[in-house]
Amino acid sequence: MTVSFETLRWRDGHLELIDQRLLPGRIEYVSCASAAETARAVRDMVVRGAPAIGCAAAYGVALEAARLAGAAPAAFSAGMGKAFDLLAASRPTAVNLFWALERMRAVLEGARPGQPPAIAARLLEEAHRILAEDIQANRAMGAHGAALLGDGTRVLTHCNAGALATAGHGTALGVIRSAVAAGKRISVIVDETRPFLQGARLTAWELVQEDIPVTLITDNMSGHLMGRGEIDAVIVGADRVAANGDVANKIGTYMIAVLARRHTIPFYVAAPLSTIDLRLASGAAIPIEERDASEVRGYAGVEWAPTGVNVRNPAFDVTPADLVTALITEKGVVHAPDRGKIAALFE
Ligand code: MRU
Repeated sequence: MTVSFETLRWRDGHLELIDQRLLPGRIEYVSCASAAETARAVRDMVVRGAPAIGCAAAYGVALEAARLAGAAPAAFSAGMGKAFDLLAASRPTAVNLFWALERMRAVLEGARPGQPPAIAARLLEEAHRILAEDIQANRAMGAHGAALLGDGTRVLTHCNAGALATAGHGTALGVIRSAVAAGKRISVIVDETRPFLQGARLTAWELVQEDIPVTLITDNMSGHLMGRGEIDAVIVGADRVAANGDVANKIGTYMIAVLARRHTIPFYVAAPLSTIDLRLASGAAIPIEERDASEVRGYAGVEWAPTGVNVRNPAFDVTPADLVTALITEKGVVHAPDRGKIAALFE
C-alpha cells in the first residue's frame, strides 16, 4: 500500500515538509533552506512524529553544510557546531532526533577536514540514507506486526504513528497498512488526541484516504468501548523506549495501556531501533516536553478556557514496560519486553 503524499522530500536543494498544522484542510509544503529553518519547523510542529523529526534533523544538518560549503574550514566547523545545537534544542522527547544527529556528527567527524563541499555532499547522502532506512524499517515492522492481527481485528490507535510521523508507511499505522495489504479486514478506532489532535486530523486523514475503515472517538471514550468488547487490540508508536522497555509516547498513552490491561486487551508498541535509548535505564529518565498553555486553553485561535487559568501541558507520558504486551521492531516482535530482550536486539 503506498501513500499519496510525502512527509519530507528533497527538492532543488531544499527540504520540503508537508505542513502538518494545516492538515487535513490544506496540503501545503514548507520549504527549509537552513538548520535554523528546519529547527523552527520541528519546534512549531510543521513536522512531528519521532522518526520524521529524526529525518528532518538530518536534512537540517545537510542544508547547513551546503549553505556554509563556501566558507573557510574554521568558519564551516563553527557554523556546523551551532547547527547541531539548534537542532538538538528543537524538541526534547523523541530520541530519533538525537540518534539522527549522532549519525550526522559521525559523518562530519569522519570526513577529511578542510573540504567543506565534499563534506556537505557526504552529509546529504547520509540524510538520504536515514530517510530510506526509515521506510525500510517501517515495512519490516509492518510485516512482523501484521502477523499479530487476525482477520476482523478492531484496533485502537492513539496520536499519529503513520506515514506522516515517519519517512513513509508508518510504525503503528504501518502495521495496520501491512495487515490490510495482506488481505485482513482491519478496522481502526482512533481517538482525537488532545490537545494537538493528531488522531482526529492526521491519522483519520491517512486512513480515510486509503479506505481503511476508521471511526473517530474522543479521548475519554476508549474505556467505554473496551468495556463493551468493541476493541480487540491497541497499537501505538513511541517517542523513546528506555533500556528496560518503558515507553514514552503521546500524552494519554499510559491511560490507554492501563485500560487495556484491565480489559485483557493486548497493548502493542511499534517502534524502530532508532527509538530505543539504551542509555536511559528506565522511563523515569526520559525528558518530557511541556508545551505552551495556549494549546490546552483552546485550538486554532478559539479559546474556551478562562483567560489566565493555570494549565499543565505535558506532551508525552511514560507507559511502564509491564503494561506492554509486545514491542514490534524491524528485527521482530519482542513479547513482554524487558532489559535483556531489548539489549539482545542490538547484538
Ligand atoms: O508530538 P508529536 O505529534 O510529535 O508526537 C508523536 C507521537 O507521540 C507518536 O506516537 C510517536 O512519535 C511515534 S511516531 C511513529
